[in-house]
Amino acid sequence: MSEKMWGGRFAKTTDEMINDFQASIEFDKRMYHEDIAGSIAHARMLAKCGIISDDDVKKIEKGLKNILTQIEEDKFNFDVAFEDIHMNVEKRLTDAIGEAGARLHTARSRNDQVALDTHMYVRRETVSVMRLITEMMEALVNVAEKNEDVIMPGYTHLQRAQPILFAHHLMAYFAMLARDFERFCGVYARCDIMPLGAGALAGTTFPIDREYVAKQLHFERIYKNSLDAVSDRDYIMEFLSAASMLMVHLSRLSEETILWCSREFSFVELDDAHCTGSSMMPQKKNPDVSELVRGKSGRVIGHLMAMLTTVKGLPLAYNKDLQEDKEGIFDAIDTIKFSLAVYERIIRGMKVNREMMKKAVDEDFSNATDLADYLAKKGMPFRKAHAVSGEAVRYCIEHKKWLSDLTMDEYKKMSPMFEDDVYDAVRPETCVKNRNSLGGTSYSQVKMQIDDAREIIKAQKKIADEKEAMQITV
Ligand code: ARG
Repeated sequence: MSEKMWGGRFAKTTDEMINDFQASIEFDKRMYHEDIAGSIAHARMLAKCGIISDDDVKKIEKGLKNILTQIEEDKFNFDVAFEDIHMNVEKRLTDAIGEAGARLHTARSRNDQVALDTHMYVRRETVSVMRLITEMMEALVNVAEKNEDVIMPGYTHLQRAQPILFAHHLMAYFAMLARDFERFCGVYARCDIMPLGAGALAGTTFPIDREYVAKQLHFERIYKNSLDAVSDRDYIMEFLSAASMLMVHLSRLSEETILWCSREFSFVELDDAHCTGSSMMPQKKNPDVSELVRGKSGRVIGHLMAMLTTVKGLPLAYNKDLQEDKEGIFDAIDTIKFSLAVYERIIRGMKVNREMMKKAVDEDFSNATDLADYLAKKGMPFRKAHAVSGEAVRYCIEHKKWLSDLTMDEYKKMSPMFEDDVYDAVRPETCVKNRNSLGGTSYSQVKMQIDDAREIIKAQKKIADEKEAMQITV
């Protein structure tokens, strides 16, 4: 007979290499807290339902708390012979308290146990991610507010397009992150459903009380179908999907940061403490953090692809393939948390070079739309005004001038509708101020966005606090 917990049916012990291959303890041990909390709730339920004795549950609870202390004090020896966190804990418990420990697994399978642990683990980590997103959003608003009148060229096709406020640009990222927060709220809701009691796949013959377990572990809902409970990995795929989208946003911001701190742009300068140098080129100051975050986006997207591909052909219910859900999501959790935390610093430490941004606006034609709008407002059809402004730009290029350098004579030759007020109309400050349509880049519209953002941050913090309070500590 094998010494495994499931060894009864086996005439031989497991081949060592096979065991190493199929064991998950190396990575699932990080769910020890959830595993112990889940087992305590399960044991209490068994006692409440008369399935084990009150004496048993006391011993189990005490034993599990001891194990928790051992793990947290780094005194627990995780043994690959016991495959995963569930059997490592149960084996140690039974060694310590005997028969009562051996009763813990009544009416439970590792299939619903691992589902429970993972739901709780991802649920908790989702709250941490929500907090970090909010902190990064706060950093963005703070920098936006501090630089509320800084003008930069807005781009399309990476060509200077129209003058905008730097704050407006930053607030676009704020908006993306606000959607990320909402997505993680959705992820949270999908984690907040209790699988225990599904047994291996079909439920159990014992008179269990799933509501009681759900209540102890603060689950909002309970899986209504036992097959679904043990084979659902939607919440993992949703987490990875939200995480991928978040990383795509951080990656776009990274790309812009990298451009902006290049000598060619020189729009911002990153803090010395946030950059690295070159071992060969003494002058270098590299934006490695942004590059790495951009790079890590590929890795998180990869985890999403891996999970979708793993699940797509699986028959119901549990298959060992599902053990592959863990390394990807754990790595995604670590990666997005770290990326958010470092990016918050990058944003906070960023020095904004208003002169260089202004220069990029002054020495260009990003006010050409405003010249066309000027004529259109005086009654010229916009399409015609567009042509006149385009001709003015061409004339300027040929004569090495900017629109603000043209004389009144030159303007009058292009259209008699031009008057002295055209010089004010093409000033970048005016271009910005006049884009006062809802959601536009004008000073007052951006101010509104910033005020609104403060409210959003407050609301998000409240949501995170409420969810934090629902997490279980043994
Ligand atoms: N370590 C396993 C996992 O992560 C636990 C469930 C194992 N169940 C089984 N019947 N082999 O999926």
